[in-house]
Amino acid sequence: MENWSPDSWKNNPILQQPEYPDSEAVRQVETELAKMPPLVFAGEVRSLHQQLADVTAGKAFLLQGGDCAESFAEFSATNIRDTFKVLLQMAVVMTFAGSCPVVKVARIAGQYAKPRSAGTEVIDGVELPSYRGDIINDISFEAAARQPDPQRLIRAYHQATSTLNLMRAFAQGGFADLHKVHQWNQGFVQQSPLGEKYQHLADQIDDTLAFMEACGISSDSVPQLRETTVYTSHEALLLNYEQALTRQDSLTNRWYDCSAHMLWIGDRTRQLDGAHIEFLRGVENPVGVKVGPSMKPDELIRLIDALNPDNQPGRLTLISRMGADNITEILPELVRRVKAEGREVVWSSDPMHGNTIKASSGYKTRSVNSILKEMKGFFEVHRAEGTYAGGVHFEMTGQNVTECVGGAYQITEEGLADRYHTHCDPRLNADQALELAFLIADTLKQARQR
Ligand code: TRP
Ligand code: MN
Repeated sequence: MENWSPDSWKNNPILQQPEYPDSEAVRQVETELAKMPPLVFAGEVRSLHQQLADVTAGKAFLLQGGDCAESFAEFSATNIRDTFKVLLQMAVVMTFAGSCPVVKVARIAGQYAKPRSAGTEVIDGVELPSYRGDIINDISFEAAARQPDPQRLIRAYHQATSTLNLMRAFAQGGFADLHKVHQWNQGFVQQSPLGEKYQHLADQIDDTLAFMEACGISSDSVPQLRETTVYTSHEALLLNYEQALTRQDSLTNRWYDCSAHMLWIGDRTRQLDGAHIEFLRGVENPVGVKVGPSMKPDELIRLIDALNPDNQPGRLTLISRMGADNITEILPELVRRVKAEGREVVWSSDPMHGNTIKASSGYKTRSVNSILKEMKGFFEVHRAEGTYAGGVHFEMTGQNVTECVGGAYQITEEGLADRYHTHCDPRLNADQALELAFLIADTLKQARQR
């Protein structure tokens, strides 16, 4: 990689960074972080790259999801476990009902920084810096809390390591064993129609496993039945954090951002000459780019070439977030152009961020119907263009929240207040997430049968 170094991004214009009161304190924290062990190993990142190459080729499907923003306050084993459960449930529904291998990538263990539409927030005539995520400042509307504090970078790093540790234990230690499918269904989901649909599917899996066991195939003899791999990802927003965790792999001498397996660039920080593109072009990790309604085909090709000049399959995932009413208008032209120019990418759908609305009660929300509509639009466009709809990107949680309206429990705008806990955007709860998983499984199955 020519003219690139882990800090070359510092020569480019940068958006969405905090203004710390004490730059010497920031430097000390960066030095400290740079000495910490990496969170992930380069070999794992290469495995994910290979699996995403399979997705590019239409042989697997990418499931990416998790919190909008992880927080320090909501950090607990229960929360991690429940998010993990929903991810497993979605994955197993798609794998079994869709007969398609699923690449599992969580938005976790690093999703702490948030881009904001304005640098400051005014409430009752008082103006304070905007909340930018727990890695930067505190959400409470008080002057001291909103002051960016570099020590939060260290705290986020430690929280990420212990989150990842538990995720690895769950994935490899027996929790993710296919014989446990029933146990991933949580009490509050079991009562819902989606919970029942899931139990029915879990029964079918039990039968299949019993049959295989009778044939001599068991969790003891076949580790694939008892283990899974869940990769980590977050938006690479705070570049000093990313730089501090970027390490040169001793086997290949190449640079890896070891804060997560996969990183993405938001729709607000994807300027071609900007710092975020400059940083990510030099690391070997699979990279995602959010593609919003303002993207033009020429611009997209230039972006692809900046991030993936060798056109390697698996390196680049384009995550479209157009909004339910725009997608069938805007996406076809982009998809067609990428195909015509022969660029190898994974096309994934984020049906969340283009569908955020303000409820009359004042809550930021999203309706499950719009989310479903954007998802369907995404699959339709790819079907019409003869391209592969390769993945989805969700904001969801294992907690029984009321943040998105609709779904099997018919959450209403009035009902949002019951359990609205998000630190940022409204997330799907477990049964809303399952509803989407079943829809995707059906679509994958139909595509396979064609
Ligand atoms: N190892 C396979 C996979 O990860 C099968 C599997 C085991 C699985 N546990 C799982 C699939 C949990 C989904 C969810 O795909
Ligand atoms: Mn979000």
